[in-house]
Amino acid sequence: MSFKIAMECAARKKDSSVILALDLISGSRTTLLSKSVELLKKVQPYICAVKINHHLVLPLGLFDGVRKILKTANKFELLTIMDCKINDIGNTNRVIAENYYKAGFDAVIANPFVGWEEGLQPVFEVAKQRKKGVILLCYMSHKATGEGYGQTIQELKTKKHASQYIVFAKKALEWHADGVVVGATYPEKIREIHQILADKVPIYSPGVGVQGGDVQSAVEAGASYLIVGRTIINAPNPASVARQIREEAHMRK
Ligand code: XMP
Repeated sequence: MSFKIAMECAARKKDSSVILALDLISGSRTTLLSKSVELLKKVQPYICAVKINHHLVLPLGLFDGVRKILKTANKFELLTIMDCKINDIGNTNRVIAENYYKAGFDAVIANPFVGWEEGLQPVFEVAKQRKKGVILLCYMSHKATGEGYGQTIQELKTKKHASQYIVFAKKALEWHADGVVVGATYPEKIREIHQILADKVPIYSPGVGVQGGDVQSAVEAGASYLIVGRTIINAPNPASVARQIREEAHMRK
């Protein structure tokens, strides 16, 4: 089963389109690990997947620490995504993807800026061999995203002018990506990108809450999954906030 289909199944089974960004930062390494597992256990009924970032991989290590969190996620039938934004030459990208997949991640996030040949092609090859997923950045959630993803460029092949994110959305289709990331902070971009991708490539949307994006506009514009970190993890009752976001997303579908 492809990662794209596995996500659809997980979302149906858990009745949620919310992905927890497990970005804890405080405490010693032992505390960080136990707090991450504890938080995941509390929030798990209301989410379909967990996204891990350098917040955990750097202090805990991939095979010793983070793998324990992945096992907890698997126990609760949650899929796991590594937000590593792969962005190097192909040979290095292959090693990055292989290690994250070997540790147990179901998908990695990669940056299409590096292109296909000797860029992301090896990542897609490894993913295919291991039946894992690749999600591409398309339009990020932060303020300066337009400086890169929003630029008007001249396409190499056609020589036509186009927005960088539109070109990336088309590459997501061409490369058979399992998803694209578009910030919830830019619902108009979600809408535009969704018109290109339709239901062939789902949109993963971070930026709800702390970064200023809201559930309603992201889902109405076409986001399939919402990635939420600080709004859930810093709440006095993370499980109840995760449940609220899940319900709000349901109401808008
Ligand atoms: P917050 O706390 O803002 O966390 O809800 C969001 C999480 O998602 C990551 N993030 C992104 N990842 N493309 C990505 O691949 C993006 O555009 C993007 N914006 C935020 C962020 O690092 C954190 O883990």
